[in-house]
Formats: sequence, C-alpha cells, structure tokens
Amino acid sequence: MKQLLIILALFTLIGCKEKTTPVNEVAVVEDRFRENYRPQYHFTPPTMWMNDPNGLLHHNGTYHLFYQHYPEDIVWGPMHWGHATSKDLISWEHKPIALYPDELGLIFSGSAVMDIHNTSGLGTKDNPPMVAIFTYHLMEGEKAGRKDFQTQGIAYSLDEGETWKKYSGNPVISNDGNIKDFRDPKVFWDENTEQWVMTLVAGDHAKFYSSPNLKNWTLMSEFGKNIGAHGGVWECPDLFPLQVEGRDETKWVLIISINPGAPNGGSGTQYFVGDFDGTTFTTNQKEIKWLDYGTDNYAGVTFNGLPDTERTFIGWMSNWNYARDTPTEAWRSAMTLSRKLTLHKNKTNGFYLKNYPVTSLDEYAYATVVHDTMKNGMSLSSKNYNEQRLNFKIPGKLDDFKLNFTNINKESVKFGYNSNTKSYYLDRRKSGVVSFEPSFGDKVHTVPAIIDSPTDVAYSIVMDASSIEVFIDGGSTVFTDQIFPTTPFTALTFTSENATIANLKVSKIKRIWK
Ligand code: FRU
Repeated sequence: MKQLLIILALFTLIGCKEKTTPVNEVAVVEDRFRENYRPQYHFTPPTMWMNDPNGLLHHNGTYHLFYQHYPEDIVWGPMHWGHATSKDLISWEHKPIALYPDELGLIFSGSAVMDIHNTSGLGTKDNPPMVAIFTYHLMEGEKAGRKDFQTQGIAYSLDEGETWKKYSGNPVISNDGNIKDFRDPKVFWDENTEQWVMTLVAGDHAKFYSSPNLKNWTLMSEFGKNIGAHGGVWECPDLFPLQVEGRDETKWVLIISINPGAPNGGSGTQYFVGDFDGTTFTTNQKEIKWLDYGTDNYAGVTFNGLPDTERTFIGWMSNWNYARDTPTEAWRSAMTLSRKLTLHKNKTNGFYLKNYPVTSLDEYAYATVVHDTMKNGMSLSSKNYNEQRLNFKIPGKLDDFKLNFTNINKESVKFGYNSNTKSYYLDRRKSGVVSFEPSFGDKVHTVPAIIDSPTDVAYSIVMDASSIEVFIDGGSTVFTDQIFPTTPFTALTFTSENATIANLKVSKIKRIWK
C-alpha cells in the first residue's frame, strides 16, 4: 500500500508540475504509523522491538528518551539504545540509534546525565559531555554459565546525543563473579555531597555507589534484602528527593521494578519512601507500595535534568509475561504517557506517590464534549473511544459503579468500584484479542481503594489505539493496561444504583506522528 502511494505521489509530482500541493504526497505522509494497534499519541519505536525507557534526560529545552531496542526483529534480541527527542513530553521525533552492542556485550538499561562541569574529562568546560551509564551484558559469559557477565559501562556524546563514543576504559564497574543480576545503573548528581551517586540492582537488593568523575566508582551501601516485595528479581531502580505536597518536608523515593511478583501478575513497580543521607537509604515503611495496579507499566524511571518539582516518569507499557506475544507486526510495545510524580501524606496511607499525565497533554485535547450528568443505565456513543480522554467526577460518597466500553463485535473493557471488596477494578478479559498468552486475559485487575478524599473523587481515563490508562484521584491509584480490540470501542454505558457522573468531558487527542 505504502509503495503504491509513493509511486502515485512521484507520478503526481512529475506529471503535474504546475500543482503546488501534490495531493498524493500528503496521503503518503499521513499514512505513516497507521498500522493496526499503533498508538497515536504514545511513544513507539519506528519499527521492531522496544522495552525499557533508558537515559531519560532534559537538556537545553529538549527531552531525550533512549530505549531498549532490537532493530532487527519484533522480539527481544541483542540490545541497542534507540533514541528519540521531544519538546513537550508528548510528541516525539525518532533519532538514529545511539548505542550498539560491542565486544563487551549488549547494551542493557541505564541512565544519562549532563556532565556540565566536565568531571569525566570526556568533553571540555565549553562543550561538556552528555554521558550514558549502562549495563554491558556479555552473552558468551552467560552461555558459559559464568556469573560475571553483567558489568557497567559509559559512553559520551559531544553533540547533544546525536552521535556517541564508548569510553575506552570500560567497564567502569566490573563484576566479581558472585552476582549474575547486576544492572540498570541510575545516576544523578548529589548537590549535598557534590558527587555522582549511582543506584544499581543486584538480584534482591539495591547498591549505592559514588564517584567524582563517572569513571571511578566506590560502593557506599546496600538496601532491600529483607524489605519490600521479592517475588522476582529487582530491576531498573531510581532514587530521588521529593517534597511532600503542602508540607515543608522532603523525603527520598526509591523506585524498584520487579519481575515477576506484581500485584496483578508478572512485572510491576514498587517504591519505598525514606531518607538518603548521601551514603545510605533508610525507611520506616512496613507495607509494600505499588506505583500502578495495571499490568502494563514496567521498568519506569524519571528524567534527570529537571527541577525536583517537575519529577517526570515514563514506563514501558508492557509486561514480561506476554511482551513478546502481543498482536502487533511492524513494531512492538509503547511507552506510558509521561507522568508527573508527586508525594503525599495522609493518616490512612502514610506517604504515597501520585502519578498523573503531564499537563502538556491537555494541549492535545480537541473537540471536547461536556455531559453534565450521567445516570444509571445511560449510554453514550462515539466513533472511536480509542483516541480519547475522559475526565469526570463522581460526586458524593464512593459507591458501586461501572463504566463499560463496548464495540460492534461485543468486545468490552470495564472499569468500576466494588463497595463489597472496597476495591477498583479494570476488566479486559473480553477486550478483543486476548488469547495470545494465557495470563493476558485470565483475570480482573483490582486494587484496594487508596484515596485521601473518599468523596467527590475525580477520574481520568486515557485510551489510545491499544492501551487504557485510568487515573483515580489525581493518580493516587492507577491502572495501565494494554488492550487489543478488533475494532474501536464506540459505546460507553454507566451503571450504578446510587452514584452519578458529573461534568464528564470527552476529548479527542491529536495524533503525534507527522
Ligand atoms: C527490565 C530489563 C532490565 C534489563 C533490560 C534488558 O525490563 O530486564 O533489567 O537491563 O530489561 O533488555
């Protein structure tokens, strides 16, 4: 189809020189990224496989997103770092691949920093380097049954991330052969101690290192062996300070992805709220806290290079249970929306994080329709709910309700609250194509209601071609799930004995691909 359009476009250009707007050329441009299930306003790679976000960095007004990428197949393979940039965290421009595997191994997950004082000496004071810190994974070592096949390396760019060179002294942290899972370095500049701090995961715990120059690293401390969730291996850590909303108090948050062991199955992201004194992370937290109760938000981390008040997170919108099996053909998997993280405290929950779409998404909303109220049994219809955002409130006390999106093929995705179990649920069991892997559609995803205001709760539901993200109470409870309906959802029905929906705003969201 695409070839045909290109030929037509060329024909039009050659044959009708006097025309200023070649109609078919426009058609070629608009055909880009319209494949079945391709998200229209979430980041996806141009083609082939993607997993974790890497090296999230804001510099000179540009957001950089690097990502785990295998450019030769739509399943996981020898890892590269793909690259994309954005001005607003919603629209992304694809860039050339940043990092390729080399003789030290594949390029696994990690982070990026701007070394503005040129502490590494890899650039100059006038042109400081952008430095990527990543894990080398040596397949030969793994195949030989050794345990020392994951080490840490660095690479640098002197042209804003366009081209990269590996550091000649790699690896910067070698592996003594005792820990096979030894990866995913997240580095930041600690203003208090004036040194680089790296958080690394090692199977069942995190390790903290310090460095004056990003090349020489010293182990400072460890955290987590006997605390938190341990249903699987710890991956993709992130450590950062956050001020508690409305209080003169700053805490440190440690994000840890874990696979398997998530509350609704497979891969998930837990977090700890505590203190970091420059050397050691400590917490009084007893309970396990999860960032998301859907099954498709994994390996997420936050941007370096932003003020602490703009702590912004992106996750990989998939799950290792079925990531390789989802029904796409040209590319595989998307990132979550960029989300702002805020820290809160109340009597019931102690400290807890909210994660909510960045406000720049609001600028992509158009054709907004407002419905003042929606009562029991009422239905709305639309050409395509899979390109829309719905914001609304349920006034009064929280009570049973259900929202059901359906299509002409009788597929459905349901979101609601159950007062018997005091929990929210998202049910994608009949949402379309689900049978590609048994755990995708085997159960309803649930979460106990964790809210700081049990009345007048606000909701935001964001649906793209193959995902649904539900933000409850400004993001104190979140579900992120992939869905693969065979045709878009076109009807929405509300059911509740006692509750009504107020001020429902339904907006279309502009597509980001040019
Ligand atoms: C998380 C992860 C990381 C690793 C990368 C490999 O999804 O397993 O721990 O660095 O993926 O692609």
